[in-house]
Order: sequence, then structure tokens, then C-alpha cells
Amino acid sequence: MSRLKFIITCHTGFEEYSEIEANRLGIDLVERREGRIIVEGREESVYTLNKFGRTFHKVIILLKRDVARNLSEIYSKVRSLDFSFIKPDQKFAVRSERSGVHDFTSIDIAREAGRAVIDSYMADRGVRLGVDLDNPDVVITVDLIGSDLFIGVDTTGESLHIREYRRYNHPSAIKPSLASALIIMSEWRGEPLLDPFTGGATIPIEAALMARAKPVHENKDYLFRKLSFYSREEEETVTLKPPISPFPVDKIVAIEKKRKHFKGALKNVRTAEVSDLVNLILDDCLKYKPEEPFSFIVTNPPYGIRSGRKDKVQILYKLFLDKVPRLLKEGGRLVIITTEHKPMKEIIEDRGLKILKENLGRHGKLWVKAFLIEV
Ligand SMILES: C[S@@+](CC[C@H](N)C(=O)[O-])C[C@H]1O[C@@H](n2cnc3c(N)ncnc32)[C@H](O)[C@@H]1O
Repeated sequence: MSRLKFIITCHTGFEEYSEIEANRLGIDLVERREGRIIVEGREESVYTLNKFGRTFHKVIILLKRDVARNLSEIYSKVRSLDFSFIKPDQKFAVRSERSGVHDFTSIDIAREAGRAVIDSYMADRGVRLGVDLDNPDVVITVDLIGSDLFIGVDTTGESLHIREYRRYNHPSAIKPSLASALIIMSEWRGEPLLDPFTGGATIPIEAALMARAKPVHENKDYLFRKLSFYSREEEETVTLKPPISPFPVDKIVAIEKKRKHFKGALKNVRTAEVSDLVNLILDDCLKYKPEEPFSFIVTNPPYGIRSGRKDKVQILYKLFLDKVPRLLKEGGRLVIITTEHKPMKEIIEDRGLKILKENLGRHGKLWVKAFLIEV
């Protein structure tokens, strides 16, 4: 069975948690880059990565890695590849990402690379491949980062972070892939867990589903199904016998103050079929008195961006961090993420809490920092 390299795209700044996840899935890391990791696995790893990666966005088979400085070099590197995995009647598109200083755009790259794919296929198979930019069967990715050229084939399609359970879209929802990264950051493995600012319940749902070790998507049109080497049998084998095992959950408690979000959270929890694991409470977490302290808190409190009240969120952070030692047992861990990380750090340090780790990264257009704290 041949070995393949895969580019896995993920949240910038949180790549190490995708690395841990790939490792748990039995797949070896080759390299960590910004917003992506490169791993190596067997052919059927394409199914494992797409089906079980909770922190991943896209899984791309790396066809070639090279150096290119201009469009004609990009053309010739793409032209030299064998695209026989595309069926003659299929339509393709090239998508490109570019970073660094170049006198051309990612649209130019996509156009040149597209021409190279057509020319290569024509030379090898005598067929002119059709292009469909809106609904292609095959997506070739051509990314230029500085002078590093990555040519690949997308096996995912629509990003994996879009989850079917999200019926209620909280206005400040965290991406489920980032929620999963935070859970991995905390090292939670089923102990009592609290999300005191739960919104639409993304964090508790991701935790519960992680414990279930079921495929992330039930009904998804993965692009790998269109590739010539696709085997339904292998996909089914991987789905039925994943390399990860479920683990028992003690309890997951999720608190939300606003009725509207609480109702939305209920809807999401039911759709995700984790009502038996997630206990949703409509309450103010600052007033909440748990029967017993928790081992973990993983949470995404308000940032004050939508309300425009950053002073107010700092008061909230102070009150909440004062309460943390009463919510967590000794040695318990808190993972908290915010855009307001400078005041947050001061508040944490003022209270003598120990920061074990910090990750600064991207959440969409925002820069966020996650802190791992031990009490
Ligand atoms: C950033 S949102 C959480 C979004 C959530 N992670 C998701 O993906 O849907 C923060 C939430 O905390 C809630 N909240 C603010 N203060 C609270 C408090 N004192 N107790 C409980 N919830 C609170 C807000 O109503 C809001 O829904």
C-alpha cells in the first residue's frame, strides 16, 4: 500500500492540536506550517482524516512540493504532473492561496495552473478536460507561500468545520474545529467538564462527540468520492473500525444566561444527539453553585465586540476568575479564549493563577488567545 502526504488545513496558532489529533488517528506528522500541518499516511488515511478529524478544515493530498518564483515556473511544475486520477468526463477547478510578496495574484496562479492541468491531460490522454469553477468534481489546489509551492488535490470539499448539528447559529459562535482544539488543549478525557458561557453549546457538544468517537459528519459529499482511486468498501471499513475509541463521560454541564441562546443550545444538543451527556442550565454562571467542583472548564466568554462594551467584559472576566477556584477542584484546569487577551492575562496573573500554556491564533478575522490555567 503506497504512502501519501496530506496537507491538513486548520486554525492558525492552534496547529499543534491538529497534530495531536492526527497522531491519535495513527498518522505521522511531517511538518508544521502556519494554518496547516503536513502528515504522512496510507492511502486509506484519506478516509480516516476526513471522517474523524474534529480540528481539521480540509484534507489535501500533496501531489508535489517545490519551489517557484514566477507564473511560468508554476505552469511548468503543474504541467509536469500526472492528472490521470481525474476521469475524462469530469470537470475540474484550481483553487489557489498565496502569501508573501509577488507581482501576481492568487487568481493569476489559478489561471496559469488551470492551463497547465489542461495541457498535461491533453498530452497524456488526448482529452481536453472541462473546467467548472462553481461545482467541480475535482479541485486542484496550488498554494504559494513565499517561494514554497504546494500542489495538491482537495479530498474534502466544503470545510469540515461546518457541522450538521448547528441548527441554532449563535451570533458569536466559536468554530467547532477551534472548540475541539481547546478541548484537546485542556487534555480533557471524560472528567467532569463545565462550559459556563455556553452560547449555542458548541464546546460541550464537541466534547461529547469527541468522547463518542463517531464520524464528524453523517451526510457529507466528500470530494474524495469523485477521485478515481476511491473505494466505497475501504471508506466503510474505516468508518466502522476507526483508530480511535470512545471514552466514558462523567458529566458535561453547560450554562447560558440568555433564554434565546439557551433554547438554541437545546436545539443544537438535541440535533447532535448528546442530550444524555450534556446538562444545559439556564442561569448566570456567576451565581451558579455546583454540587461538586469540576475537573475542567473550557469556555469562550463574551469579547465585548458586538456590544462595544470592552470595559464591561473586563469586569465580567474579573468576577469569573474570582469564582474559578470555587468551580474547579485543586489541580483542575481552565481553558479560556478571548480577543481581550492582554487584560485577561493581567487578571489571571493578579489572581496568582498558573498559566501552563498560551496559544495566539486566528478565529476568522479575529486574533484570539487561549490560556490553559491550573488552579
Ligand atoms: C461568546 S458567546 C459563547 C458562544 C459559544 N461558544 C458558541 O459557540 O455558541 C458567550 C455567551 O456567554 C453568555 N453569558 C454572558 N454572561 C454570562 C453569565 N454571567 N452567565 C452565563 N452566560 C453568560 C452570553 O449570553 C453568550 O451567549
